[in-house]
Amino acid sequence: MNRRRFLSMAGAAAATGLTAPTQALSRSRQAAKFPGGHSFVDFSVDGLGLTPGEYAAELAALAEKSAIEADYYSLGGIVTKLEERFASLLGKERAIYVPTGTLANHLAVRKLAGSDRRVIVQAESHLYNDCGDCASQLSGLSLIPLAAGRGTFTVDDIAPWISRTAGGRVESRIGVIMIESPVRRLGHQVFDFEAMKAVCAFARERGIRLHLDGARLFNVPFHTGRTVKEITVLFDTVYVSLWKHFNAASGAILAGSAKTIDGLFHERRMFGGSLPQAWPVLAVALKYMEGYPESYARAWDRATRFLNLLAAESAFAVERVPNGTSMFRLRLRRGGAEAFAARLKARGIVLPQPAGNPPFFRMIVNSSLNRADPDELAREFIQAV
Ligand SMILES: Cc1ncc(COP(=O)(O)O)c(C=O)c1O
Repeated sequence: MNRRRFLSMAGAAAATGLTAPTQALSRSRQAAKFPGGHSFVDFSVDGLGLTPGEYAAELAALAEKSAIEADYYSLGGIVTKLEERFASLLGKERAIYVPTGTLANHLAVRKLAGSDRRVIVQAESHLYNDCGDCASQLSGLSLIPLAAGRGTFTVDDIAPWISRTAGGRVESRIGVIMIESPVRRLGHQVFDFEAMKAVCAFARERGIRLHLDGARLFNVPFHTGRTVKEITVLFDTVYVSLWKHFNAASGAILAGSAKTIDGLFHERRMFGGSLPQAWPVLAVALKYMEGYPESYARAWDRATRFLNLLAAESAFAVERVPNGTSMFRLRLRRGGAEAFAARLKARGIVLPQPAGNPPFFRMIVNSSLNRADPDELAREFIQAV
């Protein structure tokens, strides 16, 4: 949780008459009832948005149940337990804990590339946009960004780059194709499954390795009907986030074959990524991972009712993302976005920062919706506008 967000939560607490210390000492914000009678709902995050107090209480409860066996430099104990659980969920032989998704993607493409140094990525991917050229600066890889503005690339997009690379004056090869799905920069849109299958088959025939950035992968089955394993089987390695849906303080899982993952802890450590004690940041993920698909489905049940109620009001325009997953856009047809968000925050409902002109909110459906009745939630929005 960043400082700004922490302070904004403190602000929300103050507005509801719950000062931060009172909250931390007496009861969690999750359990607290806000003026509308519902519990805290946060549309700005992928998970529950646990406060430091709630997070600490979760850890303490797990420790009391002896559910946490400490690790040493991110090896053994609860780290191994989590890695084994995720390897099985993802249908891979092995998994390794990595302290961030940024490092998980980097380690994956670095390992898979071997001596074939070019990597195809989506132009909209996190690796291309949000990692400051880590792959080229730290690992000597050249990223080839394809399909700007689109979530999906096809065989027609990649084939010319494969022949161009093979036909250059200096020998060079594409070692890896990386796919991000859902795509964060495109409103959590999914990569089309048929195109994914075709690209992966095309790559396999040419010996090119495949990595999936599935930070939010566990939301995909609900929207597409494809199981997690139907997707992961196409790839050599898969990364999923532990902090987005599963409420860990930080962290990622990178899964793949024993040949790829065994021994990768040396490179994790080389990049400064072997936390001497990882258990405090990941222990709660094991709890929230169990039953996540059901919890997400329940959240969408409520979100659907809530969105239908808002769509019937002239003050709002609700837009779903084509091929989308957890995100929708909420536009106000009247009134100021900042004031609207501030009024909701005082009632225990957090919105993301407004974007665009006229402004809209990139709203994320997550398990925190399960704390509120959708009719009440809609009433709050209507009153606030
Ligand atoms: C699609 C995607 N990949 C990778 C990352 C990086 O994860 P982390 O913040 O754990 O480094 C993010 C984080 O926002 C993401 O959205």
